[in-house]
Amino acid sequence: MIHRFSVVPTAPPDAILGLTEAFKADTNPAKMNLSVGVYKDETGQTPILDVVKAAEKVILETETTKGYLSIDGMPDYRDQVRELVFGETVDANRVAVLQSPGGTGALRVAADFMVAQLPKARIWIPSPTWANHPAIFTAAGLPSDTYRYLGDDRTSLDLDGMLQALREQAAPGDAVLLHGCCHNPTGVDPSPADWQQIASVIAEKQLLPLIDFAYQGFGDGVEEDAAGLRTILNAVDEAMVCTSFSKNFGLYSERVGAVSLVAADQAARDASLSQLKRVIRCNYSNPPRHGAAIVATVLSDPELTAQWRQELEAMRVRITQLRQQFVSAMQQRGHDFGFLLKQKGMFSFSGLNPMQVDELKSKHGIYIVGSGRINVAGMIESKMDVFCDAVASVI
Ligand SMILES: Cc1ncc(COP(=O)(O)O)c(C=O)c1O
Repeated sequence: MIHRFSVVPTAPPDAILGLTEAFKADTNPAKMNLSVGVYKDETGQTPILDVVKAAEKVILETETTKGYLSIDGMPDYRDQVRELVFGETVDANRVAVLQSPGGTGALRVAADFMVAQLPKARIWIPSPTWANHPAIFTAAGLPSDTYRYLGDDRTSLDLDGMLQALREQAAPGDAVLLHGCCHNPTGVDPSPADWQQIASVIAEKQLLPLIDFAYQGFGDGVEEDAAGLRTILNAVDEAMVCTSFSKNFGLYSERVGAVSLVAADQAARDASLSQLKRVIRCNYSNPPRHGAAIVATVLSDPELTAQWRQELEAMRVRITQLRQQFVSAMQQRGHDFGFLLKQKGMFSFSGLNPMQVDELKSKHGIYIVGSGRINVAGMIESKMDVFCDAVASVI
């Protein structure tokens, strides 16, 4: 008997999910998990938004079928996503929106499409970036290279370094991955003036922007967070955008996102849409209904939309307050973490090195990713002093 699977090597565990397993097993009462990228409330839970529950009630009463959706998903949902992401920036006839299983699914569909239709393209990704970006592009067979993103202080954007890399190393026709807002893992975003310069270089070098937009509303606001993306779209005719509603609707496990393509005209949009559908058909065939139905129900009802915006704002404000509390508590202990106040969204590069991160875990039950990335939303207000004492003790 041949045992083919006996020679299969074990894959390395996912670094962040591995930390969560260790966290669960830790008996330290002061333990805190700042590693995994989900929003948490003061009790350490990832809540279901009230507006999601309200939309689910409507769906329960009105849904008439569990039949398949079309390959590109629900029409209402696609319209709502287009408005939310693009606003009035691009003519609707130039935009294709396809519902996808989360932002990850959107990125994979975009990558598969690029490999099939832009066979000479490579994609330039920021260093650092979300660890799954290079993994997704490699799995799709899309060659990637990195551009400089952070300055030597590791807490601010190196705009000159970024633009120089794109100008001097990228070839016309290459793609460039940008985080639309709330850069993961650093929390460092370009300013409006920086976005203008990035847009100019992208236009000048004829690069294809692929904008990963997983945190709309977690930075400065729903519209404000789309400003960088819209600056880019005002400078170029073509782009792709990957949306996720995991974070801003708290719909992590429902897997709801979208891949959007902006083409120069309607004919190019239609042809590209047909190819994107082909990618999806032989991958997961068609997307899941429930999460998209929730988003479409909320965004097509002004009252529910207002409620969603309020609940999203409450999450955003809580994260900002936690940043402020941490910075002032560290200041009282003689350490300057003021740079955290300039960073946006759920994540920040704390500047803690791997040894300090290790010590925080083993001695204090505080779980942080090895790079020093902290999920600010994982901080618990009532444990802030214990947490800051621990951080101060390892510096
Ligand atoms: C930058 C970035 N892009 C995309 C995603 C994908 O989100 P999901 O597939 O859960 O919707 C994440 C999730 O952590 C992310 O941080």
